Amino acid sequence: MIPTIPPLAGLCSYDEAHRTGLSVENCVDWLKRLHYVWKRLHQIFTAHITAEPLYELKTAFSLHSHLCAEHAQAIRTRVSEMREPPLGLEVIPHPGLEQACDEVLCAPTTYERCLGLYQVLLPALNESIHSYLETTNRLADAPSVRILRFAQLELHDILAFGDQVMSAWEMAPDTAVAYYQGLWQALASAGGLSGRDAITTSSPAPVYSVTPFQYDRVPRRDERFQDSFNAGVNPEAFLYDPRYSPRDKTLMMYYKRIREIDVPEMMASILIEMPDKPWGFQRDMTRQLWDEARHAMLGEVGFRQAGIDWTQIPISFLWSYNLNTQLNATERHAVLFFIEQGLMPKTGKRFEWEVGRASGDELSALFQDFDWADEVLHAQIGREWYVKGFGDLNSALAYGDACWSKVMSHWREYRDQGLTQHRNWWPEIYQRACHHWGVPTDPLAMAYCETYESIRADLKEITGSA
Ligand SMILES: [Fe+2]
Ligand SMILES: [Fe+2]
Repeated sequence: MIPTIPPLAGLCSYDEAHRTGLSVENCVDWLKRLHYVWKRLHQIFTAHITAEPLYELKTAFSLHSHLCAEHAQAIRTRVSEMREPPLGLEVIPHPGLEQACDEVLCAPTTYERCLGLYQVLLPALNESIHSYLETTNRLADAPSVRILRFAQLELHDILAFGDQVMSAWEMAPDTAVAYYQGLWQALASAGGLSGRDAITTSSPAPVYSVTPFQYDRVPRRDERFQDSFNAGVNPEAFLYDPRYSPRDKTLMMYYKRIREIDVPEMMASILIEMPDKPWGFQRDMTRQLWDEARHAMLGEVGFRQAGIDWTQIPISFLWSYNLNTQLNATERHAVLFFIEQGLMPKTGKRFEWEVGRASGDELSALFQDFDWADEVLHAQIGREWYVKGFGDLNSALAYGDACWSKVMSHWREYRDQGLTQHRNWWPEIYQRACHHWGVPTDPLAMAYCETYESIRADLKEITGSA
């Protein structure tokens, strides 16, 4: 007696395996259109990380940018398996798709940008993937089915988040309805994302994308971020000073983590201002960008656990502000690599993890453990995409060091212009944490007042700052 086991390796029913709806060529055409939209979504999310003030959107855009890059990558790999060289993955599949994406990219308000992303482009992508899975032969085309099912899983999460984003606004701009309808019309003019729907309309005249997109490289923060020019507390000098206790140092590490929100703000500028770099560069650097946004959220959670309201702390944006406004994209990448490489020796990420372990704060130890692992990956990404283009490691490092030294900290100018008083926020926050922990303050730690006036974050002296 043969036991009754599901046929076709459990992939699908016989009925689904009888479908003849899509040839390899049809599949490739459709997949390339999905790929185009994923890639444009990645670009739109990335392009708005720096100047989007709202912290929760800045971090979510960082994640969604990464997810879009990963799904674009999965389709690229799949297309390359389908008798397709040359792959033609950089070709724009239809001007209607391009216009819909351009309009969202250029949308002038956060509301309209989110509307275009979360209520038009991503739902259209979701519907198209659903219909692909309903049409293709699930046995013959099983490798495509597999990657698209993974995509559905994450699209589901992104769309659920997007619904909450859209319901958070009380008022929509007057232009929103016409814009929304225009986007759907542009997609319809392309025969939908698949290109297989009947074309009953022409593309509407572009509105927002009449003027080409202008990337805004100046970082912006919402009103919970106060005193963003403040560089009145140097957490690195505290962290590496053996006179202070590991427990007290965890607060400085949480500050360093949440301050990392400036890394996506800066990395987005590299990605947007170097559009001719290979796709692999975009994908890997976007992974790193998302990791850095995640590190910021680790800091946020750490403060929460220590009973501290992080909005009471000036979370400086000076690193992204100074790099984005004073250096070009190549120089910024050089600085990023130089800093990340400097985190690898024993005094860097391993040290932070050891401090976390010695502190008795298990969350700090755990966060530093993962932070360290992520940084090892980032150093690899830097070697792949920065050092290789440079030739050798030492000159790549020297260039990064020189570029960083070129960035003026403007510590005194910012103070003299009235942008900040460089208030020493540390004693107040430290006292609050000690109260939460139920322990007395250490008088030496209470008196800590080292600033960034003359010391860079890697503890080298700043030579250029006036
Ligand atoms: Fe990081
Ligand atoms: Fe990093």
